[in-house]
Amino acid sequence: MTKTAGCCQGCLHYVFDYETPKTLVIPSIRVGFVFRFTQFLVVLYVVGYVCVVQKAYQETDSVLSTVTTKVKGFAFTNTSDADPRFWDVADYVVPPQGGDSFFVLTNMVVTPQQTQSRCPELPNPSTSCVDDCDCIEGYSDPRGNGILTGLCENYSTTVKTCEVISWCPLEIDTKLPEHALLAAAENFTVLIKNSITYPKFNVHRRNILPHINSSYLKRCEFNRTTDPDCPIFRLKHIVSEAGEEFQDMAVKGGILGIIIDWSCDLDWWARKCNPQYSFRRLDNKNPANNVAPGFNFRFAKYYKTPDGEETRTLIKAYGIRFDVVVHGTAGKFGIVPTVVNLGAALTFLSLVPVVADWVMLTCMGKRDLYKKHKITHLNEVADTETMSMGTSYGTQ
Ligand SMILES: *[C@@H]1O[C@H](CO)[C@@H](O)[C@H](O)[C@H]1NC(C)=O
Repeated sequence: MTKTAGCCQGCLHYVFDYETPKTLVIPSIRVGFVFRFTQFLVVLYVVGYVCVVQKAYQETDSVLSTVTTKVKGFAFTNTSDADPRFWDVADYVVPPQGGDSFFVLTNMVVTPQQTQSRCPELPNPSTSCVDDCDCIEGYSDPRGNGILTGLCENYSTTVKTCEVISWCPLEIDTKLPEHALLAAAENFTVLIKNSITYPKFNVHRRNILPHINSSYLKRCEFNRTTDPDCPIFRLKHIVSEAGEEFQDMAVKGGILGIIIDWSCDLDWWARKCNPQYSFRRLDNKNPANNVAPGFNFRFAKYYKTPDGEETRTLIKAYGIRFDVVVHGTAGKFGIVPTVVNLGAALTFLSLVPVVADWVMLTCMGKRDLYKKHKITHLNEVADTETMSMGTSYGTQ
């Protein structure tokens, strides 16, 4: 046998020798149980959570949406401090656009007949004065009501304050009615029209579902049990579904969210794509310190008197702003997420023997026996001796 032939044979063995792992069977029910149980947990996680709950085999897309709203209802107010008055939607919805956020006026402080003129400031420590020297001409405090003229005038018989150039008479906003002026607003209704698109899947939907006809739309009103598909909502119903009392909220105002969930499963075995409505109050109902609760803003209506003078009616409006929030994702079977998640699942399964081995080698009564068979320590000294003996025999 030549040297090259030996080398060649070595190469062949190196390439073609088949190596196979040796299997050690542990006849222990407990270890077997741990192994199977861990396997079961992994399968349960993959099938139950990843597939059924998370639907990780799906590709997803998020919703694009547009909303229009239309409020309807009338009210008649007859209070001691104002003339009797009829109200329709153009009076109490400000501004009137009808977008995804609309405001319904429920309470207010009205200051009529304001003109551009001069009048003494409302009394408070920073505006009271003794004589003209306390009032700096031209100075204006952003928290005040106007620009100082430099004069100190009688606000009442006992109090003197600095005079200002402003819209006079000044608004006194401490006399907010304790009961909402437009209590009847609870019976107003709003029609919400919402169109959505999932561009990736080319899906278009509307919250006025295909089976709704115009005669149904004329008389229906949203109710979770009897009319869950009707897109017309009574304001009181919205507020009470959010867990609030309409008349309480109407006094100081607030923000209420109308949430439309368009989560869709577009796979052929599910084909679910309907809006789900929910309602919640978005502003803080009772701030811990009770400072600045509710929601209000000011606007004015301008007039000209017959003799050409400009006057305005200032309204500090309190009311409920309804914000329509649309969200959702659509999912459809996709090959890429499926393969990725299958790979992750197989990785988890390959970790199961590690757990079983650990239990076997640390927690079992016969762990030493298992260890002896599972782990073979190479005895270097003994093996080297055998080998050197072999060589010495060879040379003899
Ligand atoms: C709203 O309507 C109900 C029934 O239609 C009525 O009983 C209630 O008094 C109305 N609320 C107001 C504030 O007018």
